[in-house]
Amino acid sequence: MSEPDGVTDVLVVGGGAIGLAIAYRIAAQGLSVRVVDRSGSRGASWVAAGMLAPVSEAMFGEADLTRLNLAGVLAFQSMANEIHERTGQPISVRADGTLTVAFDADDRAALDRLSEYRDSLGLSTTRLSGSQARTLEPFLARSVRGAVLAEDDLSVNNREWVAALRSAGELSGVDYVQGTITGLLRARGRVGGAISETGGTFRATHTVVAAGALSTDLLDIAVQPVKGQILRLAVPERLRASGGVLTRTIRGIVRGSEVYLVPREDGELVVGATVEQQGYDTSVTAGGIYGLLRDSYELLPISSEFRFVEAIAGSRPGTPDNGPIVGELEPGLIVATGHYRNGILLSALTASAVGDMVHGKPVAEEWHAFRPDRFNSSARGEQA
Ligand code: GLY
Repeated sequence: MSEPDGVTDVLVVGGGAIGLAIAYRIAAQGLSVRVVDRSGSRGASWVAAGMLAPVSEAMFGEADLTRLNLAGVLAFQSMANEIHERTGQPISVRADGTLTVAFDADDRAALDRLSEYRDSLGLSTTRLSGSQARTLEPFLARSVRGAVLAEDDLSVNNREWVAALRSAGELSGVDYVQGTITGLLRARGRVGGAISETGGTFRATHTVVAAGALSTDLLDIAVQPVKGQILRLAVPERLRASGGVLTRTIRGIVRGSEVYLVPREDGELVVGATVEQQGYDTSVTAGGIYGLLRDSYELLPISSEFRFVEAIAGSRPGTPDNGPIVGELEPGLIVATGHYRNGILLSALTASAVGDMVHGKPVAEEWHAFRPDRFNSSARGEQA
């Protein structure tokens, strides 16, 4: 890798949805930005399902995260419109909601408990019987016992989003470099950039580490990789021609395990995802695929006729409270990682927050619960 010239205003380590959104937002504000990414934006953001679903993903004890996610959806819609206008690239957002369905009586009881919690947060949901759910989604299995509709949830084609973010950044002058950052540079009491494994030096006024589960290669932060295996199936043309199979995202609780089915405009169905805590590992396993296919078949028997397109795994950046870690770690160094299951959803809102930090502005109140120091984080590095 060649030695880049000069000092950029902002160096972003990581070119997933978070890093790309930050880079675009800051470049569009007029600063010089460089992104260094090891995989060409083929990390967890590429693997993701693209659910923008703060209501049906609201979990017990996560009221602050739900509030952040609700703000995240609004920021996402606004940034997606802006980026589509700038690039002309497709960003397929579906606004058909999420139908969470329960397979058996125990699953129904678990769904009822979650619904009560979501009601207590003031979230808008509608409880339905199994037959009402099948009226909305006629291909659902007859065994489905009950359902909850979250009409405000959205989904986006995550790969279109990553591609559009990258193009928007390019149009705003972002410099993309493929490489692996191995250390931070420090001088005069502040971080002043980073170095790569090939010895390249990237000097910057602000360094933003947005490298997802790999951020721990650079920082001592409370992030753990949480593997997710996911499938892409294609709905046959004859079914698409007669109106398609699913109108909205289906989340299922099937004998205690969770599965989701996310339909795409192009006829694909994304089926996810495993949740595995076993270190950084992106291998696809027979057991992972089996569980996803079994549960999707239980909920949507016709899915056995779909063409198998892809099985892929990614590593989510998990944290002890499932919330992101966003804030200044030390002068010149900002961290934006730990987005766990909400990286696509929170990309635009995180970009705004990091833009505010770079410009020395106060960060929006909904971020206060997600400061890095709640886990006593610190950074490793080298002297320049
Ligand atoms: N947000 C979905 C997942 O992490 O599997």
